[in-house]
Amino acid sequence: MNPTPSAARPFGPQADLLSTTQFDRSSVLALFELADGLRPLGRSELTCDVLQGAVLSSLFFEPSTRTRLSFESAWARLGGTVLTTTGFTFSSMAKGESIHDTARVISGYSDVIVMRHPDKGSVAELADASLVPVVNGGDGAGEHPTQALLDVYTLTRELGARGRTVEGSTVAIIGDLRYGRTVHSLIDLLRLWKGVRFRLYSPSSLELPREFFDRDDAHRLLVCESVQDALKGADAVYATRVQRERITDEKVAQSIEAAVLLDKRMVQEWASDDLIIMHPLPRDSRPGSFDLMPDVDDLPGLAIFHQTDNGLMVRMAIFCTILGLDLPTVLAHTRKPVWNSGKPLARPGLHSAGRQAQDW
Ligand code: NCD
Repeated sequence: MNPTPSAARPFGPQADLLSTTQFDRSSVLALFELADGLRPLGRSELTCDVLQGAVLSSLFFEPSTRTRLSFESAWARLGGTVLTTTGFTFSSMAKGESIHDTARVISGYSDVIVMRHPDKGSVAELADASLVPVVNGGDGAGEHPTQALLDVYTLTRELGARGRTVEGSTVAIIGDLRYGRTVHSLIDLLRLWKGVRFRLYSPSSLELPREFFDRDDAHRLLVCESVQDALKGADAVYATRVQRERITDEKVAQSIEAAVLLDKRMVQEWASDDLIIMHPLPRDSRPGSFDLMPDVDDLPGLAIFHQTDNGLMVRMAIFCTILGLDLPTVLAHTRKPVWNSGKPLARPGLHSAGRQAQDW
């Protein structure tokens, strides 16, 4: 929607959200504070109609569970209406319609658009032709800025609960660093905090793109020899799935998978006792798969479902910011729901890692 490249514009009212580079530390912290204030809506203690009459169009051209549904849930919990289309098959892109025309058409029906698309740069292209703000729900191997925001929000809270801060922390990132867009956005966002160091481990064919090492703070990135090496001194580990859908050579895909496994024994033997365990999800839990193993689920540092829970609050805060709504305005449009006694929905046992239910 901007004549200049949208990614250059700082995030705020009526801005697109395309890249983590649109943030500075104070705008991230303001967003987190708003997300904190929206918790009663996230746990259904309050219902809200501040977005009554507002329409979100959610266009997902790649598989998604939590990103699409948490965006849609966030909009719905603020009282708005959601229009959704998934996959190319049922959209006119299957008939050859351009991103430009799609943007122009959909923005006539919506107040905000969220899009996920397999091509890097595609969401920025949509934003340039859109008449309404556009949010990047993942553009190929490019970026996934809202995931990075919810990841840093979660990391801040998890470290805070242990009396530590993001500043000066060490984050191990393992898996597919080449195609993993969540990794790219996470590193970019965490660079805003002083002293954050990254210990990276990936198979050699899936290394972090060169451009990350060409920056003036590249000394923060340490490439490690093994998972064990990466976990040394780490406050948190961010494990990722091999992005098989972006790897064209099947032999390459198979040869690298075993190198990205992380299980309970590895964490217990190689990491500090209170390692925070994160993953953007989905993890591949099929028998014989190589990913973050389900046996880590009873470790005290497991934060993967805190990430998914927190995504709802962070995405509500993103929508409120785009639409220029501050917390008092939102809260002035809430009331107690008649269908919920106000009991926290995050009750023990709600998550598969039940003991991990946070007081969110
Ligand atoms: C990630 C994605 O789509 O980039 N998932 C997500 O949005 N939480 C990670 C992945 O698919 O591996």
